Amino acid sequence: MIIEPRMRGFICLTAHPAGCAQNVVNQINYVKAQGPVEGPKRVLVIGASTGFGLSSRITSAFGANAATIGVFFEKAPQEGKTATPGWYNTAAFQDEAEKAGLYAKSINGDAFSDEIKQQTIALIKQDLGQVDLVVYSLASPVRTNPRTGVTHRSVLKPIGATYTNKTVDFHTGVVSEISIEPCNEEDIKNTVAVMGGEDWDMWMDAMMEAGVLAENALTVAYSYIGPVLTEPVYRKGTIGAAKDNLEATAFTISDKLKSLNGRAIVSVNKALVTQASSAIPVIPLYISLLYKIMKEKEIHEGCIEQMYRLFNDRLYNGSTIPTDEKGRIRVDDWEMRTDVQDEVDALWTKATTETLPEIGDLKGYKSDFLSLFGFGVDGVEYGTEVNELVPIKGLQ
Ligand code: NAI
Repeated sequence: MIIEPRMRGFICLTAHPAGCAQNVVNQINYVKAQGPVEGPKRVLVIGASTGFGLSSRITSAFGANAATIGVFFEKAPQEGKTATPGWYNTAAFQDEAEKAGLYAKSINGDAFSDEIKQQTIALIKQDLGQVDLVVYSLASPVRTNPRTGVTHRSVLKPIGATYTNKTVDFHTGVVSEISIEPCNEEDIKNTVAVMGGEDWDMWMDAMMEAGVLAENALTVAYSYIGPVLTEPVYRKGTIGAAKDNLEATAFTISDKLKSLNGRAIVSVNKALVTQASSAIPVIPLYISLLYKIMKEKEIHEGCIEQMYRLFNDRLYNGSTIPTDEKGRIRVDDWEMRTDVQDEVDALWTKATTETLPEIGDLKGYKSDFLSLFGFGVDGVEYGTEVNELVPIKGLQ
């Protein structure tokens, strides 16, 4: 079929297999061009099909020559209906891993469930014995707790007071004011239950118990802080409460890993266009201004640049892992530079529908967004028929 983007709200209902494959190949080429990483040899990535998780998997495999197992939740294609992008990304990743002679297997299912945890552990036991690194990179709006059976839904709301600020509809370029009502106590609990550290802790408990974590095993999860500007809806909002919980969980897990000389750590990453972040009000406007400034200063990074830097300069640089006063790795360091943030603040007050195309990188935002679904990728012939029914090799 000929596949075109079909937008609904902040999601795209279609994905292009060749475009997704090209994105994966581009990330692999980036990693290879940077040179080898003295990294882990057996890696489990939970949330491995898009965004930071996919880039972590690519960096592990093509930077450190690691065997990788990826867990994700994606829709398979059907006759006349495309898969979700993570499906096509993984199909391409598996093909490239096979060509390179790298072990790679994938599991598609709900990572929050006990079944998927046990299936993953059984696969590790069978094929790898143990893993040296567990990357926890889930982003989901909903989680069913396997212990209680309760389904929790996260919300993106401020805590305590209504938050009013500018936002942009990145499809139309219209800048408008948005007011978000504060959450209630239940909203906080639910968001923490979905995006906090409980499930990460459950994964690590299950893996410890099964003996599938190697000596010196590391586990890393991803967080975000961002500027004062977005604090009410991000870091001091419901999602921020979940990130506080995730960051605290790193210490709980580290304690449990002591007998293995292992460690759990959180990396604070840069704001990037992913399916998860485009759903948060205000953030797309912030990102489009941030991109403009970081590109001008030649310090802009995408997921793969961030993950390569995380692995090569922070996690596996041969010495102790550098952290901030709260024990977190900071690869958002360039985003948070004072000169960068001062310029974002100055542009923020000027941002309107009329000025944004000039002062912000709305074009870059849109093209990154389309690219998440495999559209607008250089070198891809969009006018020709492609087979939507792409299988994933190595899918369990
Ligand atoms: P993403 O939406 O690109 O990727 C999410 C991954 O989780 C996908 O592989 C998806 O298949 C998987 N997933 C979702 N629900 C699942 C389930 N129930 N079972 C199995 N797999 C499931 O998200 P992104 O942006 O890469 O986020 C990953 C982490 O990085 C999150 O913790 C996020 O908060 C954090 N982060 C994101 C930033 C951003 O700007 N995008 C900035 C800093 C941190």
